[in-house]
This record gives sequence, structure tokens and C-alpha cells, in this order.
Amino acid sequence: MPAKSVNLIFTDSTSSALAEVVEEMAPSAIFLLADANTAQLIARPLLESTPALAGGQIIEIPAGDQSKNIDTLSALWQALSDGGATRSSLLINVGGGMVTDLGGFAASTFKRGIRFINIPTTLLGAVDAALGGKTGINFNGLKNEIGVFSHADAVIVSARHFATLPYQELTSGYAELLKHALIDSPEALNRALAYDLERANLDELQHLLRESIAVKERIVAADPLEHGLRKALNLGHTAAHAFESLAMEQGRAVAHGHAVAWGLIVDLILSNMMLGLDSATLHDVAIYIKEYFPRPQLSCADYPRLIELMRHDKKNLTASRINFTLLSAPGQIILDNEVPPEKITPALDILRDLVC
Ligand code: GLY
Repeated sequence: MPAKSVNLIFTDSTSSALAEVVEEMAPSAIFLLADANTAQLIARPLLESTPALAGGQIIEIPAGDQSKNIDTLSALWQALSDGGATRSSLLINVGGGMVTDLGGFAASTFKRGIRFINIPTTLLGAVDAALGGKTGINFNGLKNEIGVFSHADAVIVSARHFATLPYQELTSGYAELLKHALIDSPEALNRALAYDLERANLDELQHLLRESIAVKERIVAADPLEHGLRKALNLGHTAAHAFESLAMEQGRAVAHGHAVAWGLIVDLILSNMMLGLDSATLHDVAIYIKEYFPRPQLSCADYPRLIELMRHDKKNLTASRINFTLLSAPGQIILDNEVPPEKITPALDILRDLVC
């Protein structure tokens, strides 16, 4: 199944870009899905300043990943039903990954599918979740367990929305941008490593975002259902998911992107050990992450549990093997590397030496 071509728009004015798209779609009714943070800050002003959205209804859900569940989904279907949504209605998802994943799934299943637009309001959402067609909810304690591949009709990206993002949310999103740069090329990586995250110039960020999203778009177009090449986007994520699960078990909060940043370093260390990736790339990325990102809370007593968690990662081809996406150079991805625990332990030691 080829990926549907998505109308991907980069803009300084979400309102005018949205007006143009909505006028062309001429929906029977318009709904805006937002969480408690984005409803008043972004969705309401957007509704009031965009005549093309006249009559639109805001559906507000509680903020946080815990809303990405079957109850909120059911409430959302109910709100669409009560609001008179038909097959030709439109859902506009205004928020981070939770809102675009949940809203995309609700739209794709309501009356067998209504149109939806994603307006990511976090950097993490813009770089990753809003584009690529992965929609769904968490279920049974498992993340993204139920869902469908379904592409938004349009994705409207504006770095202006990130002006009020807390610093830690900006860094969290930037980890995925670093991942795309590593997948892309040495030049893209150098450009990403030159960005001053503390100053966070939004025009520069919009430019980097455009490049970064193009990397994901290319990969998704080539392998929309993740049978092969799309696994490249898992770079950093085998270790990242283990860091996130460990933190959860220990009652600590870890932002997804921070775990990805540390996971990228683990992958670069393994890539250096197993595939001859040059040490300079590893050190440049580690120095950048050490400068701008929080330190991982990690001791050698955590290693056995981390390795156990990596063993259970759903990306593994069989239960006993640990599978990593690695790279031999920036831009040269090697999929499906089986890594033995004897190599993971020293990699975690080196991670701590580099960034702790
Ligand atoms: N988040 C990785 C992907 O969309 O495949």
C-alpha cells in the first residue's frame, strides 16, 4: 500500500494555512480536538481567528499520555456523534503526539473514516508523531497497542507554536530531530549539532524541521507499513524504551526524547564497536547531548534489568535476541543487528562515562 500523499505545509501563520485547506475540503462540520493545555492557548484562538472554521466545535480532553486510552477514545467518538459528525466532517487535531495519535485513530475509525488534519504544537509531535500515519491508543499497559496506519489529509507545521514550550519539551523533541539527521547524512548531522537549543531561534528551527521531516517523509513513502526501511526510524529506540520502562518501574518520570537521546548514544557506541562508525561522530553527538540534555540516572546495578527490558522490546525478531538499528556512518543505516548482552554492558558503561 503506497503512503497517501499528505498535504504537508510549513507556515508562519497556521490560521491562514488552515483556512486554505479547510475551504478546499468544504467539510459538513468541523471539530477541533485539543488537550487542556492546547484548547485555550491554541485551538480556541485558532477557531476565533479563522472564519473558515465558523461553527467549529472544540472537543477538550485531559492532557498527558494517560488520556491515550479506550475511555477517552470512546468519549471522543461520542462527542463526534453528539455533534452531528458525518462522513464528510473534519477533525483537526491540535496538540502533541497524544492528541494526534488519538485523534487520528478516532477519525480513521468513526463511520469507517473521516478526514483529519494534524497541527502539532510540540517539537516532538512535529518531528515524529504528526506525520507518518501511525495512529492509536495504549492498551493493556502497552504503548500504542491498538491502532491503524492512517495518514492525515494535511499536516500544518509552524515552529511559532513552540515559543511557549518548556525547555525540557524542546530538548525532548530535538532528540528525534538528531535521530533523523544521523539517518540522513554527515551534513545534516553537522547542521543539527550547530543549533543552540538554549537560544532556540524559531526561524532556524523551522528550517531544521523542514529538513528533518523530509527525512521521515522519504522513509515512510518507501516503507509505509514498516516492513523494512522504516525500521531506520527506530534508531536509539531499543535502549530508549528500556530506559523509559526502567524509570517507570523506579517511579521516576523520563521524557521520551531524553531517553531517545541517551539511546542514540548507546547505538552510536555499539555502531562504533560493531560497524566501525568513526569515534568523532560518537563524541560530537555525546558532547551535544551532554551540553543540552539532562543526565540519565543509571547505575551498573540497573544493567541486568535494562538488558531484560531490551530483550522484550517488540522490535526483536525472536524473544531471545536483542535487535538494534545501527549505522556504519551518518547516513548509512544498518537494520536488524543482533547485539549480545556482553556488548550492551560495556556500551552502558561508556554511556555513563560520556554523559553522566
Ligand atoms: N516513530 C517512528 C515511526 O513513525 O516509524
